[in-house]
Amino acid sequence: MDAVIEKHAEPASPSALARRTRIGAEIRRRLVAHLAAGGTTDMAASTLQFGGSVYTDPARFAAEKRELFGNTPLVAGLSGDIPNPGDVILFDLAGPPILITRDKDRQLHAFLNVCPHRGARLVTECTAQRRLVCPFHAWTFDLDGALMAIPGREGFEGLDPATRGLTRVPVAEWNGLVFVQATPGEASIDVEGFLGNFAPELAQLELGAGQPVKSGVLEARANWKYVLDTFGESYHFARLHNQTLAPYFISNVAAFDRFDRGYRVAFPDVGLRALVGKPEAEWPPTEFAAVHFLFPNTILFIGSVVPGKWYIQVFRLFPGDSVGTTRTHFAVYAPRDGADDAYRAEVAQAYDATAHVVMTEDYRVAAEAWDALSRSPGARVVFGRNEIALHGVQQSIAQAIDMPLA
Ligand code: FES
Ligand SMILES: [Fe+2]
Repeated sequence: MDAVIEKHAEPASPSALARRTRIGAEIRRRLVAHLAAGGTTDMAASTLQFGGSVYTDPARFAAEKRELFGNTPLVAGLSGDIPNPGDVILFDLAGPPILITRDKDRQLHAFLNVCPHRGARLVTECTAQRRLVCPFHAWTFDLDGALMAIPGREGFEGLDPATRGLTRVPVAEWNGLVFVQATPGEASIDVEGFLGNFAPELAQLELGAGQPVKSGVLEARANWKYVLDTFGESYHFARLHNQTLAPYFISNVAAFDRFDRGYRVAFPDVGLRALVGKPEAEWPPTEFAAVHFLFPNTILFIGSVVPGKWYIQVFRLFPGDSVGTTRTHFAVYAPRDGADDAYRAEVAQAYDATAHVVMTEDYRVAAEAWDALSRSPGARVVFGRNEIALHGVQQSIAQAIDMPLA
């Protein structure tokens, strides 16, 4: 059974671009209306309160690892991370070591990165491969996982090579996103069924046009859900980011939309203040900029590194070794076509600046909060109506593990 679904949007398709521009214009209209009203924001119907143990309970953490990181499709990268036949992605952060390959017919395959001979890590570097040769005794595999050669074949008499291929892991490629489900099996991933009404929103982002510029792993000493919450609200910009983001973005104003278990949220930059009271015909062209959350652990930001130059940031959050640690894979992408060295350098700088703010401000305060909550039994937290994006995320996670938010 084929575990791969291939479907690509054409890069820069006029209809997707037109749709993105229309959505960007709508978002801007809503943000300017909030500013015109004196700084209102999209709100949830009520506040949401629950125990700090949601972030500190090891049993809950174990259930999340099993259900969300073992049994849910996860973003393993963008198509641009594995553009050509022979390219590979190594994906270890969800738990099992996973190897993704693109074969000569451009199909993706995913396997446990474990040699069926005696368990060596089959591929150790993210470099292009014509075939996969185990570093231990040189068993050799095709990019589709079939065992091609066993040196000293007579030592394995009676062993059928057809039964010793690599262990498959479900994988799918959809509109520039690569998904895997980090549990071995032959099942296929129904991406559109999984995304529901978020699928058209993500398709129009044309993530397939992104080419990687820089990536790394950011460590946080806090629960992964606490870390995730830091991406969904701008209420903290004025205080926590007073020297870094607050000069550029207006705090506590957001245009929020929920799509099944995902969301899109946009925050106004200070330049939008100048549009208040001005006829829309006089506004400058729209630059689409929004944060997208893909359940359960991925944040995609599409915006401009400078006006007219779009780029992508992808944050994928994974539980660390304990309930109080998180590993974030952070990557930035420039357009594959039309980004020269200077453009790519600007995107790399955006990576450095963002990683610095995230590590020294967001993840620092998250670590302090998590430490305090973990040592304060009975502590409770409350999401404001203004922290609207956080409500649905924590509710969806609680529902997926069948443990109520209490
Ligand atoms: S462990 Fe891979 S060839 Fe022996
Ligand atoms: Fe922040």
